[in-house]
Amino acid sequence: MNQEELAKVLQTEFSPNGETIRFFSAPGRINIIGEHVDYAGGIVLPAAIDFSIRIAIRKNEARKFRIFSVSTGEKIESPSAAYDSKHSWVNYVYGVIDEFQKLGRVADFFDLVVWGNIPQGAGLSSSAAFEVAVAFALSEIHGWNFSREEIALLSQRAENRFVGVNCGIMDQFVIATAKEGFCIALNTESLRYEFYEMRLDGYEFYLIDSKVKHSLKDSAYNDRRKEVESAFQKIKKHRPELTTLYQAEPEDAENSSFGLNEAEIQRARHVTSERYRTRNMIENLKSGNAKEVGKILFECHDSLSKDYEVSCEETDFIVEELKAEGVLGARMIGGGFGGCVLILDKEGRKDILFEKIKARYFKKFESNPELYTFRISDGVKEF
Ligand code: GLA
Repeated sequence: MNQEELAKVLQTEFSPNGETIRFFSAPGRINIIGEHVDYAGGIVLPAAIDFSIRIAIRKNEARKFRIFSVSTGEKIESPSAAYDSKHSWVNYVYGVIDEFQKLGRVADFFDLVVWGNIPQGAGLSSSAAFEVAVAFALSEIHGWNFSREEIALLSQRAENRFVGVNCGIMDQFVIATAKEGFCIALNTESLRYEFYEMRLDGYEFYLIDSKVKHSLKDSAYNDRRKEVESAFQKIKKHRPELTTLYQAEPEDAENSSFGLNEAEIQRARHVTSERYRTRNMIENLKSGNAKEVGKILFECHDSLSKDYEVSCEETDFIVEELKAEGVLGARMIGGGFGGCVLILDKEGRKDILFEKIKARYFKKFESNPELYTFRISDGVKEF
């Protein structure tokens, strides 16, 4: 929706007042490599895409937060930002208000309309985009001038403490700081980052959505975090110099005298081997070696599926079918348990290939996957 359309909805739902309406947009994201390592001190390589959450916001005199969602048609009015167990989506807004409040920044009451075209539960970070859009908007309309990095960290805390998903920093960070045409190599331990141009001439990235919806809260996401933490504690007893699991070696995971249980061994093997894949990926992206980039995507998927166990039958099926068709690389992205597969292939093949995969997918699962193409875009902004 454009400004005019959003403004019209806002005026209709909440009736006009004299306050200026402002508009903010936050993108979804993909991730090239570095999956499920952003809570283990790892390096991640995400990029923002041109799917977005857009909000129109203006202050009000109604002494209530009034929030309307175009996609669900729900209107929520509340005099406080208290947790709402009936309308879970509104907690992304309340969580952000709450985090600002903890820093002594009390938000004025406002009217807000939200619209988005980031598919939900598809591993493209629609919830982080919503949080970052709201956090950035509140900072701007109150003149608080939070930096983009601060906006990212505050939004992550909202998700961890208010929404209850113990996510890492990757999604909020890339959504807050992204640059058109670039992916960002973020060290999630130091929060230092660099931009890399996402260009492989003659090749293209695209997505196939399995349409299996995951919910990070209901899924085993929080369990994985616990397993990673306990694996790390066991390894650290023997290697006290380590500050994160990411710095350990795959052999540490397998070392029987360290006493990791089977699940911990597998999780630690994924996290530690991802370090090597990521290093390789950055080298090959820099030198434009698309074949190697693709190969690493397949290796990453294998590790996520077998060792980290965050894939599912449907996404495994899509990756296997694409491999059999000779694409350069493919892997599930994001939290997992469904959602999207990221694909790298020669330009110009995707439509024909997708039709084939779609037919086979339907035969097996009686549902239709969806094809998304995207451009690498900017982070959160006022528009
Ligand atoms: C979700 C989380 C991120 C990250 C990914 C997996 O998107 O929000 O913090 O852990 O899963 O890499």
